[in-house]
Amino acid sequence: MCGIVGYIGREDIKEILLDGLRELEYRGYDSAGVAILEDEEIQSFKAIGKLKNLEEKTKNFSTNGFGLGIGHTRWATHGKPTELNAHPHLGEFSYVVHNGIIENYQELKKKLIQKGYNFLSQTDTEVIVHLFEENYKQENETFKAFEKTVEMLAGAYAILLITKADPNTIYFAKNGSPMIVGNDEKGDIYFGSSDAALIGKASEVIYLSDGDYGYTKEGEIKIFNDKTEKALQKKPLIGDKISAQKDGYRFFMEKEIYEQSEVLGDTIMGRVLDEKIKFDELDENFFEGINQIQFCACGTSYNSALACSYLFERQAKIKSFVEIASEFRYKEPLLSKDTLFVVISQSGETADTLEALKMAKKAGLKTLAICNVDNSSIVRISDYTLLTRAGIEKGVASTKAFATQVMVMWMLALYLAQIRNTMSAEELKAEISTIRHIPKTVIVEDSLHEKIKRLSKRYLHGHGFFFIGRDLFYPLALEGALKLKEISYLHAEGYPAGEMKHGPIALADSELFTIALMPKSVHYDKIKSNVEELSARDATILAISPLEFDLADDFIKTNYSDHPMSEFFEMMVITQLLALEISVRLGNDVDMPRNLAKSVTVE
Ligand code: M6R
Repeated sequence: MCGIVGYIGREDIKEILLDGLRELEYRGYDSAGVAILEDEEIQSFKAIGKLKNLEEKTKNFSTNGFGLGIGHTRWATHGKPTELNAHPHLGEFSYVVHNGIIENYQELKKKLIQKGYNFLSQTDTEVIVHLFEENYKQENETFKAFEKTVEMLAGAYAILLITKADPNTIYFAKNGSPMIVGNDEKGDIYFGSSDAALIGKASEVIYLSDGDYGYTKEGEIKIFNDKTEKALQKKPLIGDKISAQKDGYRFFMEKEIYEQSEVLGDTIMGRVLDEKIKFDELDENFFEGINQIQFCACGTSYNSALACSYLFERQAKIKSFVEIASEFRYKEPLLSKDTLFVVISQSGETADTLEALKMAKKAGLKTLAICNVDNSSIVRISDYTLLTRAGIEKGVASTKAFATQVMVMWMLALYLAQIRNTMSAEELKAEISTIRHIPKTVIVEDSLHEKIKRLSKRYLHGHGFFFIGRDLFYPLALEGALKLKEISYLHAEGYPAGEMKHGPIALADSELFTIALMPKSVHYDKIKSNVEELSARDATILAISPLEFDLADDFIKTNYSDHPMSEFFEMMVITQLLALEISVRLGNDVDMPRNLAKSVTVE
């Protein structure tokens, strides 16, 4: 997730762009930049790190007549967060900002290099500006060149482009990534990735649809889709900035649960091809001599690793074990060089995980990070990194970070299965088709959310919760319990369902709440008898399953799928919403629960 802004008018352009970027900084802050076109000259400024660095760099610059500008705040996906990789990207006479991922950038880049274009950055975005200039050479008309450029792009994008070849115009295109265009009463034009950037400036806005592209000049907005001009559907812009940052959701955690479909789409983009998994970030030779994988992480990241360790053993047929980082550090572990050491961390700054990583490096192990924050300490130290692309997660209770970690590790298991030849082409294709469907699986239906809101009132008291599951659904039970604990302050445990009879069942009575994860695709009969045992002891049971279960006090019906991962992701959303709604009813601070911090940088 990145944020983009644009402006045409007579106010101080830099100030308008920086104001907008301030509101979008929650979308990414690896670097920021602006390009401003005034009197047919373009000035561009970029700075790595937070926006205040760009503010400092531009403090002596201002405009005081008609002009236009574009700006960007970046969350790195391709290429490190350096100044060269920061947007806007320049060609010979044009500048572009982009949010999203251009999937076919490598083939476009290759062709452009053959034609003599020189690339300065490692980003996918830079192809857009060179492609536009190449098309302009052929068409000699800016709009045609832009339209042709958009046609040649595959992937997700929200793009703003300015060019000296047409100095009064901003060109835009949207597909899969959000973009809003608006105007004020004076006819000044504003662009932003979300309402927050336009509130207090534009009086009416248009929410662009996928496939829309066009241009704006002072007082004029033209939108096309599939080469046909569209009527403008303007809406008044109202609201306050904080709620706009939350996109109308009550809490960041709620927004992040709803965002999972979009970010999972980002996570798989460019990595899941028709018949194989591809990671540009990895070199296949890196895995030579590796016979086992040691995962190491804390909290939610540990739970995601534990879930995926089942996949690595089954799909890539590689021995996998998972350790809590704070335990690993002091157990004097025996490490062997045929082990790949994989750390998982949303923040990339968790002290225990970082120290465990340093120990593994010191012992000469190959290391790989699965992380959400580029250039974080963990990313800098690891040999290789796979970014999860979840965008900034503000809620202390991790949701989309967990979802994207699981997705990256599932793809990595398949990638290893390819290298190690442990799966047939048919099996791999079936996995790929399930992966492609997952972003749809996690879309939150209103009826589901409403049902969970209603159910939550029955689960506010009692002497505790057991989330139970088997196989992959045991780590999901751990994660469900962790979510509930963090934000409701109620006692909850995740437990392997088959283990209840070895002790915890002694706790069962009507005040013990059991959240039973009962997928059809994995050991349904086994978990069913485990839940029956609890029901016989009068425990209160909320069953989550595609199959009706008569003994449940409450029941949430999921969709039947024969792939465990589809059931996994669907149940993940249910446990997240349940924790959220219980916490809301208890009146807790959902986004900043007591005693917790987003990133634990101490031991
Ligand atoms: O940033 P990390 O993924 O390394 O953080 C690890 C844990 O601190 C984190 O997952 C924590 O458990 C979350 N609050 C869970 O919601």
